[in-house]
Amino acid sequence: MFELIKTIWLLLPAYTPNNFAVLFGGGTPIDLGKNFLDGRRILGDGKTIRGFVAGVLGGLFVAHIQILVERILGFELYSKLPYGEFLKLAFLLAFGAMVGDSLGSFIKRRFGVERGKCFPILDQLTFLIVAYAFASLSRAFHILFTTEIIIIGIIVTPLLHLAVNILAYLLRIKEVPW
Ligand code: CTP
Ligand code: MG
Repeated sequence: MFELIKTIWLLLPAYTPNNFAVLFGGGTPIDLGKNFLDGRRILGDGKTIRGFVAGVLGGLFVAHIQILVERILGFELYSKLPYGEFLKLAFLLAFGAMVGDSLGSFIKRRFGVERGKCFPILDQLTFLIVAYAFASLSRAFHILFTTEIIIIGIIVTPLLHLAVNILAYLLRIKEVPW
């Protein structure tokens, strides 16, 4: 149970960017409205420059809040890192999550899945895999993310996604439970 909570905590800087993108996104799409070789959009109107930037900044913001919460509650995960190392890791998790989010859309478009339509597993795991890949470039990642944590993240993320969406549906924040 503790490892599960620790995993979710450590992954918040990767989990939250897409929510900030939903809140603050809009405007010019990253692909500038252009099509790929297959005649479909490269990424689609759901991936905007403003959303991408807001997502990365949002993830960094959440990570800083986490440092404060750790100090208040008296445990040390992110707060035990030197600030520079922390910043590098938090940025790579948030940036990687947004790159992965865009990669997910790129793959969806290649399969002919329209913007906004769900693509199970891909929708929930692409961002995480890319976030892991980017974050693994930082030294701090290897201190905090043990193999166990990494694996729990991969298993629990799709389930967490589903649980959060069902909750949002029950609270009438979302129209469909997926
Ligand atoms: N969003 C954005 N910029 C991003 C990512 C998301 O503006 N880089 C906003 C868009 O308004 C998008 C919404 O957040 O519609 C929901 O994000 P997401 O579910 O990732 O996109 P979808 O619209 O479902 O598009 P896709 O099918 O490409 O995933
Ligand atoms: Mg979507």
